[in-house]
Amino acid sequence: MRPGLEGYGRTDGGPRSPERAAVVAGLGAAVPETVVTNDDLARVLDTDDAWIRRRTGIRRRRAVAPGQATGDLAVEAARNALASAGAGGAGAVVLATSTPDQLCPATAPNVASRIGLGPVPAFDVQAVCTGFVYALASGAGLISLGVVDSVLVIGADAFSTLLDPEDRATRVVFGDGAGAVLLRAGSRTERGALLDFSLGSDGSAEDLIGMRAGGSRQRSTGLPAKVEDTYFSMQGQAVFKQAVSRMTESARDIAARTGWAVEEVDSFVFHQANARILTAVARRLGLPVERFRTNIAEVGNTVSASIPLALVDATARGELTPGQKVVLTGFGGGLTWGSTALVWPGPDPLLSELSTDAGDFLPKYR
Ligand code: UT7
Repeated sequence: MRPGLEGYGRTDGGPRSPERAAVVAGLGAAVPETVVTNDDLARVLDTDDAWIRRRTGIRRRRAVAPGQATGDLAVEAARNALASAGAGGAGAVVLATSTPDQLCPATAPNVASRIGLGPVPAFDVQAVCTGFVYALASGAGLISLGVVDSVLVIGADAFSTLLDPEDRATRVVFGDGAGAVLLRAGSRTERGALLDFSLGSDGSAEDLIGMRAGGSRQRSTGLPAKVEDTYFSMQGQAVFKQAVSRMTESARDIAARTGWAVEEVDSFVFHQANARILTAVARRLGLPVERFRTNIAEVGNTVSASIPLALVDATARGELTPGQKVVLTGFGGGLTWGSTALVWPGPDPLLSELSTDAGDFLPKYR
C-alpha cells in the first residue's frame, strides 16, 4: 500500500475540523463488452445513423449481456478506482443507481461485500442522472463529519434494461456503464478537495422522466401494471430545455459558491445527456464548447455513470490536468440537478499516477 493510505478501511472516524474535506484519490471505470452501434439500432428501429449523430452526438453505446447487472459493473469500476489510488480498501460505499440489481434491498452492500471491504456502511442513492453528484455529496459528508476516512463513490446503471425495445427515442440515447471515485480524508486546501456543492430538485415535474410500474403507487392497486408503464419514458424536448437551463444555473451557482468566475473554470464535466445540450450550455455561459469534456459519442447517456466515465476518459486523454479548476454538473429525473467543484489533483501526493496511468483502468472504448 502506498504511504498515506494506511487509514483506508477504518470506520472509527477521525478528527473533525473545519478544514477536513473529501479529496479525490482514485478513479475507475467499467463498461460491458457488447457494443451497440447506431447502425445496429437502425436495423431494428425506424432510425438512422445520421439522425442519431445529428440530434444527440452519439455513435455507439454499451449494453449489458443477459444476466449481467449494475452491481457487476459497479464492482469492476470500484476495483479499478482502488487500484488507481494504490488503496487496499475503503471505509464506505455510496452507489448512485436507478437500476439496482433488484428493487429491494440496495445494491451497495453487496458491492462492498464482493470487493471484500468488510462490514462497512453501504447504501444506494437514487437521483437518476444527478445520482453521482448526490452520491459525491453524501460521501463527502461522511468524510467531513469524521464518520469514515475514505468512501468509494460509484455511479453505475444498466439502463438498457428499462427501455422499451420499440422506443426509438430512448433506445438511441441510453447506454450501460459504471464509474467510480475514491474519496479520502484530507484538507480543503489540497488539490482534489471537493470544495462545495450546489444541489436542487423540482418534484412537480416528476412526470417528465420515469418508469411508473413497480413502485408502491402502482403495486398498492393490486392490479397488473400497464405494459407502457413497465418501460422508462421521457418527454425529450421538455427535458432538454430543463436540462439546459438547470445545468447552466447550477454551474453558475457552484462557481459563485466556490469564489470562482465561470470564465476561470478550465473543464466542465457535465452529465452526458446530449451533445447539443453541452453546446447550448456553453453558449449560455459565453464559453467555448471545447471546455466541456465529452465522451457521449462512445458511450451515450449512461445515467449515474455518465460523469465518472467522462472524468476517466478526459483524464486519459490529457484534457484534465493537475491544477485545473473543474466543475462537475448533473441533471436528471426527479427532476434533480447538482454540481460540485474541485481543483484537479496531482501531480503531488496520492493521485500522482492517475494522469499517466489512467489508461490501465480505462474501459476499452476504442
Ligand atoms: O439524462 C437525463 C436527462 N435527459 C436529457 O436531458 C435528454 C434530453 N432530450 C434529448 O436529448 C432529446 O429530446 C432526444 C434525443 C431524446 C430527442 O431529440 P429531439 O431532437 O428532441 O427529437 P424530438 O423528440 O423533438 O423528435 C423530433 C422528430 C419526431 O418526428 P416528427 O414528429 O417531427 O415527425 C420524432 O418522432 O424526430 C423523431 N425521432 C426520431 N427520428 C429518428 C425521435 N427519435 C428518433 C430517432 N430516429 N431515434
